[in-house]
Amino acid sequence: MKTGEIFETQDGSHSIHSEKFGVSYHSKYGAIQESRHVFLEAGLYAQLEDKEEVAVLEIGFGTGLNALLTYQEAEEKKLRIRYDTFEAYPITLAEAITLNYPSLLGKGVMEEVFNEMHKAAWSTPIRLGDYFTFTKYNELFQRIDYPETFNVIYFDAFAPNAQPELWETELMEKMYNALKPGGMLVTYCAKGAVKRVMKGLGFTVEALKGPPGKREMTRAVKPNEV
Ligand SMILES: C[S@@+](CC[C@H](N)C(=O)[O-])C[C@H]1O[C@@H](n2cnc3c(N)ncnc32)[C@H](O)[C@@H]1O
Repeated sequence: MKTGEIFETQDGSHSIHSEKFGVSYHSKYGAIQESRHVFLEAGLYAQLEDKEEVAVLEIGFGTGLNALLTYQEAEEKKLRIRYDTFEAYPITLAEAITLNYPSLLGKGVMEEVFNEMHKAAWSTPIRLGDYFTFTKYNELFQRIDYPETFNVIYFDAFAPNAQPELWETELMEKMYNALKPGGMLVTYCAKGAVKRVMKGLGFTVEALKGPPGKREMTRAVKPNEV
């Protein structure tokens, strides 16, 4: 079943308007721009120092844009990345191959990798390129249960007005538990109520400059053990 209408955001990259949830997968100001700013620059880059491998958990595989950008980063920086991503309502393959991300990001191998991500079997790790290990799970976020495994969480669920239950203590606590000490969760969302939930769980919460079109975003850091 079709997920929704594909449209072009202001930086020329595609997004999808979800029929099921009534919201878009990315900012209308620019999907690639937003993904780079929120997840790579504020999250991944902040975790690179002194690590042989960075483990990333993504909440919401969606179009695969965050995964593709992170793959590109791994190969360019020769940085080993373990990437686990959850998605309960995958887009169709027909939609995936219509998206213009690979052509905007360098065609060739990017197109192959993007298709492999979308065609990959669930719950089965695959190696993409020399540095990137990718596993996608066809599971609800609510079923996530990892003890101190990840350096970064890309928390890319639909916004609290569309899915309030995903921004409350129950799921956020799973996120806290899934992070290694010193690890961090990044999200485009800057809502006060969400930040209060994070603080209540013990996260150190930072308000950072948002991507174009958005004043702020949030980074929640799990303190190092004392
Ligand atoms: C904002 S989109 C993710 C965008 C994605 N990161 C990208 O790069 O395109 C949110 C995703 O969460 C998925 N989703 C919504 N509720 C879910 C749930 N309870 N468990 C798992 N996936 C869910 C949606 O199907 C959607 O793909």
